[in-house]
Amino acid sequence: MIKIAVLVSGGGTNLQALIDAAAQGRLPEGVLDLVVSSNPDAYALTRAQQAEIETAVLRRRDFADSEAYGAALDAMLCERGIGLIVLAGFMTVLPDSFCRRWENRIINVHPSLIPSFCGEGFYGLRVHEAALQKGVKVTGATVHFVSEIVDGGAIILQKAVEVMPDDTAESLQKRVMAQAEHIILPQAVALFCQDRLSVVDGKVLIQPDV
Ligand code: GAR
Repeated sequence: MIKIAVLVSGGGTNLQALIDAAAQGRLPEGVLDLVVSSNPDAYALTRAQQAEIETAVLRRRDFADSEAYGAALDAMLCERGIGLIVLAGFMTVLPDSFCRRWENRIINVHPSLIPSFCGEGFYGLRVHEAALQKGVKVTGATVHFVSEIVDGGAIILQKAVEVMPDDTAESLQKRVMAQAEHIILPQAVALFCQDRLSVVDGKVLIQPDV
């Protein structure tokens, strides 16, 4: 069993998708062990408590710098024997040292088809505002491993979603969450826990189910 820590900052709908997947037996080799929030008021914490998952709050502002924040997080996760970190709407940038230490063991969900609308400054609603601004007809979501480059790690799964002519950033965000993020994030976590992902030349290979 792989112990999973989910890092959150906000509403936690992606966390909920993982909780629902676990309850329905769709994360057979994984267990949701800990939810860490960078924001004490995140509704994601309530979702975790309702699902009886242990929670912790780690605010960036309580640490002198990003390195100290990463070290505290690392200590907390190692103490619990965490094997996979999932960033599910986690809005604090982790230091390079942390990303290196947890290489190919951190998964992030991003609300666009990377390499579009990603990198520094592209998070949450801003991603959908940029997609509407550009006038793309198709957007989607990406689940990828986290590297030192923001949204630059190896891609695990992607799913496309149609943009409607009357979309607002909010309506598009909702559709991308429901039709893409909440589907591919639990799938990617299950693949990781089943040891079916490997990274070769910066690309993810998915082993077939046997
Ligand atoms: C999600 O759309 C997630 O993809 C995005 O924040 C939202 C969090 O929602 N993450 C990023 O933009 C990271 N670059 P949630 O708290 O309801 O899961």
